Amino acid sequence: MRLTSKLPDVGTTIFTVMSRRARELGALNVGQGFPDYELDPRLGELVAEAIRSGHNQYAPMEGLMLLREQIALKLTACYGIEVDPESQVTVTVGGTEALYSAIQATVQAGDDVIVFDPAYDSYEPAVRLAGARCVRIPLAPPAFRYDWDRVRAALTGRTRLVIVNSPHNPACTLVRAADLDALAALVRDRPIAVLSDEVYEHVVFDGHAHRSVLAHPELRARSFAVFSFGKTLHATGWRVGYCVAPPEYTRELRKVHQFNTFSVVHPLQHAIAAYIEAQPESWQGLSRFFQAKRDLLRTALAGTAFELPPAEGTYFQLLGYERISDDDDVAFADRLIREAGLATIPLSPFYREAPRLRCVRLCTAKRDETLREAAARLAAFAGSRA
Ligand SMILES: Cc1ncc(COP(=O)(O)O)c(C=O)c1O
Repeated sequence: MRLTSKLPDVGTTIFTVMSRRARELGALNVGQGFPDYELDPRLGELVAEAIRSGHNQYAPMEGLMLLREQIALKLTACYGIEVDPESQVTVTVGGTEALYSAIQATVQAGDDVIVFDPAYDSYEPAVRLAGARCVRIPLAPPAFRYDWDRVRAALTGRTRLVIVNSPHNPACTLVRAADLDALAALVRDRPIAVLSDEVYEHVVFDGHAHRSVLAHPELRARSFAVFSFGKTLHATGWRVGYCVAPPEYTRELRKVHQFNTFSVVHPLQHAIAAYIEAQPESWQGLSRFFQAKRDLLRTALAGTAFELPPAEGTYFQLLGYERISDDDDVAFADRLIREAGLATIPLSPFYREAPRLRCVRLCTAKRDETLREAAARLAAFAGSRA
């Protein structure tokens, strides 16, 4: 039998494509968002201890209680809120599964979901697999700010969910308190839930605070908030994340989670619970750690013809090349990988209809030597075109 594709236009993601090309061409990879340095060896020891202690069978479907309790304590420390780990926290396979399960739990065939472009690439396929449709509203470069009047105009009787992301990948912006108030006013008295992707919650620069929907009582009552230990512990390959939502939302999310992934790697949950209890500084110091890396890269590129838009958060930095080339961003990323030996990520794949973009995304979660080498290659590339 021939399969009829449910996602006929979905190919391999730009992240996989660029990382594969980087390996083939021997290019330096500052494209895909993952650290190229080791994680804290203590985390590895804790996993080995958990395996030796026999935590090798199915973990509880909702997540290990020890870990959910630590998550609740961490949320109190970060956002001054009380969270019931029993009824409001679910441990998932990375932030990606939390996003997927929240979408499947919320939207029905024929519903509309508001998504802001540039958008992380997992949102739309998950919405479409639920039989729903994404209404994509562009955030225009260079500021990538929300236009709430435009959002209001896009709401229909079918709108069931709004997906927001802050700190924002790839725009590197943060939502403001006024944005959350505007969002709350829009969904008030409408049957619309909010899915808030906050996987970079601890990577916020220049003294800004991360504004979680969980700290906004009105939004919290209708939101799924998604987090990732991959980002927080420099361990993207561990695939451990979590979703925090009101009990009614959590019940529905768990119905999907239970028959999708069922539960998450047991020894990893023990290790993470022990680690975040013993080492709260591991996440408390993240903004400082990544701000130093952002600043290293920005300083190294300061004298070049590249432009460096402000990066308020995430472990990315946009790189504007308006003064160097009029290529579109996919063509420019292609030239960088071939001519400068550097893999970056163009922004247009994050849009349904990309505006004119003259920037690519760099990942700063790299060793200082990697960032210096990337800057040197970029400077040489810019210099040869001056
Ligand atoms: C904005 C955003 N949301 C979600 C995710 C997925 O997180 P995880 O790797 O924990 O699945 C990522 C990962 O890059 C991301 O950048």
